[in-house]
Amino acid sequence: MSGFDVQQFRSQFTFFQLQPDWVYLDNAATMHKPKAVTDAVQRFYQQQNSNVHRGAHQLSQRATTEFEQARDIVASFINAKHRHEIIFTSGATAALNQIAFGLMHTVLQPGDRILLTQLEHHANIVPWQLHCQRHGIHIDVVPLNSSLQLDLAAYQQLLLQKPKVVSFSHVSNVLGHIQPVQQMVAMAKAAGAITVIDGAQGVVYQQPDMQQLDCDFYVFSGHKIYGPTGTGVLYGKTALLEQLTPLLAGGEMIEQVSFVNTTFNKLPFRLEAGTPNIAGVIGLGAALQWIQQYNNNDLIQHKSLLLKAFFSGLAQIKGVDILSMPVHNAGIVALNVDSEHPSDVAAMLDQQQVAVRSGQHCAMPLFSYLARPGAVRCAFAAYNTLDDVNRCLLALEQAVEILTA
Ligand SMILES: Cc1ncc(COP(=O)(O)O)c(C=O)c1O
Repeated sequence: MSGFDVQQFRSQFTFFQLQPDWVYLDNAATMHKPKAVTDAVQRFYQQQNSNVHRGAHQLSQRATTEFEQARDIVASFINAKHRHEIIFTSGATAALNQIAFGLMHTVLQPGDRILLTQLEHHANIVPWQLHCQRHGIHIDVVPLNSSLQLDLAAYQQLLLQKPKVVSFSHVSNVLGHIQPVQQMVAMAKAAGAITVIDGAQGVVYQQPDMQQLDCDFYVFSGHKIYGPTGTGVLYGKTALLEQLTPLLAGGEMIEQVSFVNTTFNKLPFRLEAGTPNIAGVIGLGAALQWIQQYNNNDLIQHKSLLLKAFFSGLAQIKGVDILSMPVHNAGIVALNVDSEHPSDVAAMLDQQQVAVRSGQHCAMPLFSYLARPGAVRCAFAAYNTLDDVNRCLLALEQAVEILTA
């Protein structure tokens, strides 16, 4: 039996104590932060506040130690083989931009192909497109099947075209569908492709194990896993990280500079230009340490209970068009109400203090495929309760009544 106590979990978020009336279901956009994280950030600024890696004084040395400890925490959280395989970035977007840019100048050559999927977030489309167009590299797209899951037979066929890179999300940020990433990595590797996983939504669902998954790159944002905004992680295997051309230059990433030539520092510093988000990274370390007190399966089970209740409640509301599937779902439900505009529905929920997101969720190609103008997205987190589910259902019922009257 699950020992998960949602009220105990929720009590660690100051937001819910100060704003008890809000039902917060915009978790796929960003999550609230537990006190362990806000305290760590505040303590850093109040008691420490020094730059890292280059200070001669004790404060700077202590800041460096804490910053580097956060790298150890991340490495252990995702079971990376080496700590230098963890590169801190400002988020998943920055990490994907670094990978796309970095490979383009080394691994990828004109005439090559890369493979993306129909349900990617723009952050896993546009950085590739930007460089592929310039360098004459072709992008293929894995289609979806009738269950709005990736079509693995089509994926296998596209792999026959020998793409150099395959990049796909762990969990769809619109539908919540969990991709069979382990299988997809194995298939891509058998075809000789480099694998990139956008874990922005996946990392908070299932603690990923880099050595088991065996992908080449995995990226995520700190703010979607209880950490501060402006933090992110680019995990990569050593040999590939060493081949990435740095997207940003300056600061600690340099070894020697002259006006003739520059040589770069070793990993991880080589890909971390400028002063990092020190307090944020320390906060991210605190977030990952904090969440590990809980059993991940308990959190998954709790979210699946919420999801089950939400889906069965939705089935009772006439006029609701549910895009997401309840199975293999990480806790995100995209829906529409009749032909009403999603932003009108979201605005009605907002009036009831139910926070959801509406629109195309940075996934326009997916919405073109779905032939919908957008959707309302309800994204559940482990701190949500059955009461949140019921309040959202009630607000939706009222919205349907008013909008379709
Ligand atoms: C699947 C996915 N990839 C990438 C991103 C980009 O994350 P960030 O804006 O934190 O860089 C998001 C954010 O919503 C996302 O959901």
